[in-house]
Amino acid sequence: MSKFMQGNSKRILVPGGAGYIGSHTCVELLNRGYTPVIVDNFVNSSMAAIDRICQITGANDVPVIEADIRDTEAMIGALREHECEAVIHFAGLKAVGESTANPLDYYSNNVQGSLSLLDAMRQTGVGHIVFSSSATVYGTPVSLPYTEDHPLAPTNPYGMTKYAVELMLNDLVASGAGINAGILRYFNPIGAHPTGLIGEDPNGVPNNLMPFVAQVAVGRRPHLNVFGNDYDTPDGTGVRDYIHVVDLAEAHIVALEKLLESPDSFTVNLGSGNGYSVLDVVKAFEQASGREIPLNFAERRAGDLPAYWADPSYAMELLGWKTRLTLEDMCRDQWAWQSGNPEGYPQREVGAA
Ligand code: NAD
Ligand code: WQD
Repeated sequence: MSKFMQGNSKRILVPGGAGYIGSHTCVELLNRGYTPVIVDNFVNSSMAAIDRICQITGANDVPVIEADIRDTEAMIGALREHECEAVIHFAGLKAVGESTANPLDYYSNNVQGSLSLLDAMRQTGVGHIVFSSSATVYGTPVSLPYTEDHPLAPTNPYGMTKYAVELMLNDLVASGAGINAGILRYFNPIGAHPTGLIGEDPNGVPNNLMPFVAQVAVGRRPHLNVFGNDYDTPDGTGVRDYIHVVDLAEAHIVALEKLLESPDSFTVNLGSGNGYSVLDVVKAFEQASGREIPLNFAERRAGDLPAYWADPSYAMELLGWKTRLTLEDMCRDQWAWQSGNPEGYPQREVGAA
């Protein structure tokens, strides 16, 4: 028996647990007495995140398996050796533009990877999975806010891979394989743990708004390009439903416990129900950081939607969960992370970009 298997705590396999949302969820798992068993190939994360998870939670160590989820035998070995009761699956690639340029990498990592993981679960009799889906599965809004029964029509390969995995999960659940699934459709996760010890650490130029804004504030980039200020929105800039990553992480625990307690499967939006524009975010970040964010109004980014936000009411009804942290909290904690770690994690021991 390994040193990690002592005690009564339930062990949860967490593929992608070294990444942005995964690391925050590992903290919440440890805070509630679960043992996360992290599987990661470190293609977009750092071993340093594991040390920080331990630092925040006071855990002596966390089991980490450096592997690709497409390695089914390694997944079977991890589930068996650590006697995992459930899986919270974050592992995948997530850059929309890159997915358009290299779709096969995305289908391979996200779809083939999930297939391999599910096959390992089936072979080992592990019966519960929480899956990271995305609001991107909805595509162009037919109606807003998005409800879970909104038509699904992703507009890029990344979104198609999330849709494909949702379909695969639904078919697997319906087959009577003894697996239940919680499909979580995240809106726009931002922010960081309030200690500022873990956060999002993108490789290269950030694709997403918040890490870009934070890098401007800390002096790594001269200005923010605002992609379009002629949308039909209150100030002309794009509107999104931002969710604090700690709220999001907590929702995973609630979803996990729901799957452990009841046989049902579910698909649920995780958002706040509020829409904020790019300029709202910039203003809130300037206040939180005390730094000015110089702006350059640029062309619309190809493929961007003008505005979308969640109807979060089903999450409340089903899970008794709603967001509690505000845009101000998101900016304050993002700044704590960025100002404390201006270049991201101290050392990329593996998977360096
Ligand atoms: P992230 O890149 O920080 O984390 C993903 C982790 O998975 C990384 O640690 C990466 O190294 C690992 N990984 C990737 N491919 C792997 C593979 N084949 N085998 C093993 N490990 C692999 O991303 P994140 O923001 O934490 O996102 C987590 C999940 O949530 C992803 O599936 C993403 O698509 C989904 N999601 C993210 C957002 C967002 O805006 N951040 C929104 C909706 C959904
Ligand atoms: C937000 C707003 C931009 C950067 C993406 C994925 C989605 C999900 C979350 C994974 C938009 C504007 C951005 C910049 C800007 N990921 N912007 N300047 O596009 O809503 O969602 O991440 O599932 O699938 O598509 O998030 O943060 O990139 O953009 O003006 O430098 O900020 O135009 O209005 P997006 P984002």
